[in-house]
Amino acid sequence: MRLLCDYSEEVQCVLVAEKKVEPLAVEALLASLQHRGIETSVLNPSDVKVFLDAETGASVIPDVSPNAVVLHRNVMADIELLKIAFGMWRQTSTKILNDFESSLNARNKFVAAINLQMAGIPVSSTLAFSAQSILNFPLQGEFVIKPVRGARGVGVEKRETINDWVEPVEIMPNSYRPFWVAQPVVGANTYDRRAFVVDGVCVALMRREPSGDEWRANVALGADCVAEDPNGVLGKLAEQAVGTLKLDFASVDILDSDNGPVINEVDPWGGFTALSKATGVDVAGKIADLVERRGLASH
Ligand SMILES: Nc1ncnc2c1ncn2[C@@H]1O[C@H](COP(=O)(O)OP(=O)(O)O)[C@@H](O)[C@H]1O
Ligand SMILES: [Mg+2]
Repeated sequence: MRLLCDYSEEVQCVLVAEKKVEPLAVEALLASLQHRGIETSVLNPSDVKVFLDAETGASVIPDVSPNAVVLHRNVMADIELLKIAFGMWRQTSTKILNDFESSLNARNKFVAAINLQMAGIPVSSTLAFSAQSILNFPLQGEFVIKPVRGARGVGVEKRETINDWVEPVEIMPNSYRPFWVAQPVVGANTYDRRAFVVDGVCVALMRREPSGDEWRANVALGADCVAEDPNGVLGKLAEQAVGTLKLDFASVDILDSDNGPVINEVDPWGGFTALSKATGVDVAGKIADLVERRGLASH
């Protein structure tokens, strides 16, 4: 067998992301990186290949410069192959911003909640269950049900009983819903907060207020956004959450419970364009600054 790939091309920064899924975030990151003179290429997750040469061993295609910084955004559809590619990059001097395994652990809302709770960070009680069986469902009263790796509020429902719940299989691929979680409705407020932490510092915070009949505070579902101070208690909590999950940068969603704030979600692939718009903080620029600091060869 002969490889039809060009191994010679080397890159300084690689952004593994599906441009068509979130064009604004990818464009903002690209612009910020290029503005800093960082040569960047966007690699579509489904274009990543791994070649095992029977003589010399395995390598990732396309070739990435040993000193490159690799960033990644939503690669859900290609997780299994990318786990292998990132595992291989990890063994080289390639710098991966947001360790891939830590990112997958954070993207799993239940694994993240367990790790946060163990670190003493407030989270909501959460039940993980298989969609194949709702026998012995222990929650009573109103609860929220959601896919364990969901996004943008898809499949997130408020219910009073599980009895007539049928897994909505058409809404998203199976990789987003290997199992489901259910939790009590947290607090009486309809708003939540979106923070963004980069390199240990909460750089921006906003309140998200659902609009119209909607109860979910996702921007994708039309929430109104209002800037808040990132330097207070909520910012500190977000910083602790991201540090606990060992991420270089991530969005953090915070709910107001009757007993104070609880972390709802920590997402290494979380959106920041609405946050930048609401707060005036150039979140993409903060991420690009971090790339630069991590020793990227610039031109
Ligand atoms: N336990 C909960 N109590 C109250 N509201 C919740 C709860 N879980 C989710 N929500 C609301 O639903 C929205 C979407 O839920 P979330 O867990 O963030 O899923 P997604 O990853 O799809 O954004 C949240 O922003 C929040 O407004
Ligand atoms: Mg969310």
